[in-house]
Amino acid sequence: MERIINIAIDGPSGSGKSTLASALAKRYGLIYIDTGALYRTVGLYIQRKNILSTDTEAIIAALDGIDITMRLIDGKGVVFLDGEPVGDEIRTPKSSMYASDVSRIPEVRAYLLDLQRDIAKKNSTVMDGRDIGTVILPNADVKLFLTAGVEERARRRTLELKEKQPDITFEEVLADMTTRDKNDSGRKIAPAVPAEDAIFLDNGSLTIEETVEKAAEIIDGVL
Ligand code: DC
Repeated sequence: MERIINIAIDGPSGSGKSTLASALAKRYGLIYIDTGALYRTVGLYIQRKNILSTDTEAIIAALDGIDITMRLIDGKGVVFLDGEPVGDEIRTPKSSMYASDVSRIPEVRAYLLDLQRDIAKKNSTVMDGRDIGTVILPNADVKLFLTAGVEERARRRTLELKEKQPDITFEEVLADMTTRDKNDSGRKIAPAVPAEDAIFLDNGSLTIEETVEKAAEIIDGVL
């Protein structure tokens, strides 16, 4: 059997994890798994059920009825909710905040854990998230921790969001991102912190191409 390889990419919101992960997936012929999309989909389900993102008890109870799966399509994990693929509705600022809130709940993380591990066990992947190197795949072949300053990350995210929401301002995005950073790295369970054996890659002053080249140098040195 072909050797399974897993690359873990963790880091804060807007650090460019998904851009890097999908470029690396293409370069090395791996499947790209965006684990944030899973938390965002739980958030979407909660929104659709009119449950507040802070109502932990109701969210835990709702997990029983939730049907989230991931199918591998064109080299990428696509998330399905109740048999339907989810799209851009999980990318709005409201959905981001819902995702961040639900991701603090241990039962939600436990619900999504096996799904992520099963995919990585059967497929060679590059998986991006917050706890891939620490919790989901502690034996990943390579662990990268991608960082950039919060202002730079907010600037990038504003540009990205403006395509679909022209009215959005840098200040709003920066405020959201600062809150989410605090939420994600300050939470008790699976905080977004680097694994002990993670390799840091600060891309605050790098282009996408430079970031991919640096990451590839690191990966080639390890594999
Ligand atoms: O990567 P993202 O911005 O799409 O993630 C959305 C939210 O989900 C983020 O606020 C933190 C949470 N998340 C998580 O807790 N663990 C992961 N592996 C991925 C995302």
